[in-house]
Amino acid sequence: MILNSQENYKDKKSIIIYFSRANENYAVGYIDKGNTEVIAEYIRDLTGAELFKVEPKDKYASDYKTCVREAVERIRSHNAPIVKELPDLSSYEVIYIGSPVYCGKMPEEMVTALKDRDFTGKIIRPFVTHEGSGLANIPKEIKEVCKGATVLDGLEVKGSTVNSAKDRVESWI
Ligand SMILES: Cc1cc2nc3c(=O)[nH]c(=O)nc-3n(C[C@H](O)[C@H](O)[C@H](O)COP(=O)(O)O)c2cc1C
Repeated sequence: MILNSQENYKDKKSIIIYFSRANENYAVGYIDKGNTEVIAEYIRDLTGAELFKVEPKDKYASDYKTCVREAVERIRSHNAPIVKELPDLSSYEVIYIGSPVYCGKMPEEMVTALKDRDFTGKIIRPFVTHEGSGLANIPKEIKEVCKGATVLDGLEVKGSTVNSAKDRVESWI
């Protein structure tokens, strides 16, 4: 079932599953809260959805350059354990999946969190923050990993503009 109006999505039981990293990042310097987390919290404020943050077991380095090296290696090796598995998703109708673009893709921890779960009948609404790649390959990855879901059009927001993006998030919601 595909819903069209904004009210319909807001009325559904929803969860926001996202990855986000504070510290040094491209174009923004050192930040206390990651860009994707800012968008996730807007969605929470606008919909009442619960938040679930995917946390890497091995924290990424706080400096940007080392973090990129680590991200490349985790994507290459598919080795990215997480602190806590996703909760039982059976009661949620709409699942917001939020991710930064890491080298054109999701951070490997998102793959770890989402793979081998049953998304049959779920509506997924992806949102992505980036610094030029837009949605990149992420909607395709989500379709591949989240078996059985209907994946709707995603929202992309440039990371360095998240603090002024609440209106865009609201119109997408
Ligand atoms: C390891 C790493 C790889 C990145 N790769 C890309 C990329 O391929 N394309 C892009 O547009 N931005 C890239 N970025 C920028 C992030 O996608 C962007 O800063 C995002 O908003 C970070 O989200 P977060 O603060 O929630 O972690 C990369 C950032 C990092 C740390």
